[in-house]
Amino acid sequence: MSLEPTFRNIRGTFDILPQDGRSEGAHDMPSRAWQHVEQVVREVLERFNFREIRTPILEPTELIARGVGQLTDIVSKEMFAFRRGDTNYVLRPEVTAPVMRAYLQHRLDQQGAVQKLYYIGPCFRAENPQKGRYRQFHQFGVELIGAETPEADAEVIAAMMAVYEAFGLKNLRLRINTLGDAESRPRYREALRAYLQPLADRLTPTSRQRLETNPLRILDTKDERERRLLEGAPRIIDFVDEKGRAHYEAVKAHLQALGIAFEEDPFLVRGLDYYTHTTFELESPDLGAQSALAGGGRYDLLAMDLGHDAPVPAVGFAAGIERLFIALQAQGYAFPEEPPLDAYLVSLGEEAMRRALVEAQALRRAGLRVDLDLKGRSMKAQMREANRQQARYAVIMGERELAEGRAVVRDMQSGQQQEVPLDELADFLKGAVRVS
Ligand code: HAM
Repeated sequence: MSLEPTFRNIRGTFDILPQDGRSEGAHDMPSRAWQHVEQVVREVLERFNFREIRTPILEPTELIARGVGQLTDIVSKEMFAFRRGDTNYVLRPEVTAPVMRAYLQHRLDQQGAVQKLYYIGPCFRAENPQKGRYRQFHQFGVELIGAETPEADAEVIAAMMAVYEAFGLKNLRLRINTLGDAESRPRYREALRAYLQPLADRLTPTSRQRLETNPLRILDTKDERERRLLEGAPRIIDFVDEKGRAHYEAVKAHLQALGIAFEEDPFLVRGLDYYTHTTFELESPDLGAQSALAGGGRYDLLAMDLGHDAPVPAVGFAAGIERLFIALQAQGYAFPEEPPLDAYLVSLGEEAMRRALVEAQALRRAGLRVDLDLKGRSMKAQMREANRQQARYAVIMGERELAEGRAVVRDMQSGQQQEVPLDELADFLKGAVRVS
């Protein structure tokens, strides 16, 4: 192969290889580790009785624009969107709006009063790639649709925490807040604007712009000077009505009852516009600048933003898988080893190679993991390959052994060899693999 490939994967995306990715453009964890993470996520979420939903990667752009919000960074700057014919398509930047679309479209409310759905899959945002921030990344998450109780919020947060607990991750920080409802938010927005307007010339250009368009977003500034300016800002909780406050108090009480530690952060607003009431974010100290492992909240009005005629109470979270990997690696997580190859069939000569193909099939039917030489290499090269693949046994098939209906089975660790009749090979290997 030539040294310089003609094509490379797009910056901010990566290939997941069967082995640890050490080259540029490959994820540093092998596909086996991804499968493991996905399996743990599924097991934990299914224990909570969340069931999987798979929605398309392609969605109508308008769904995301209306769902996530025109003024958000995601919609205004980060969508991979294109037009074909009369249709505007977007590569989904998140999965909450698509899940709500599917819920409304398929009348899932008729399948049970509460729908508990989970997903795992890729999302796309045209952000500036850096550690923990990619253009194609992967999320897992849940959406609990149909319940407006604070218990539902607590259930979603408990499911999120259970996933990280299953991986044994330590030092996580859960922050929570409430944003009130459709009445309190605009009133708060105006109060915040009134507070910040006289300070406008001390704000960063981005915040000055947000003061006009979306002042709440100024609250999650990382700029130290701005943070100090915000210390005297009005708090959203003072604008939330009694019902909203009672909901928030109940969520906190449930988290306490569940033994889930949290901190209240009156400035936690999140970057998507569909939230009402509870919002939350989970951080890990191991992530650096992109500190959020997961985030979510309640979004009772999203259904109406998508054209439904009544609110549909819902709450969910989503988590970045790449960021979970960063935290796992930082904490020295032991990923399961690759399962070993049970046998590598070494064949000598054309006829033997044909027989090996058929024998391999029979051994696989018997449940063994088996590979064979497909290049007609020398015996030495084939034995090296059996070694490289860490096969437990090499099954050597020469023309003479085959003529006698036998093969030589070599234990690759001890070097011991014995002849085994071909029709007993599967049972022999299965027994041998079981005891070793
Ligand atoms: P989000 O906070 O935009 O929320 O994304 C959730 C998680 O996805 C983040 O905490 C982060 O771990 C990961 N993530 C986001 N962008 C990137 C990126 N460019 N590269 C790598 N990881 C990233 C949502 O998406 C909402 N749909 C969450 C939700 C579900 N709310 C209610 N239900």
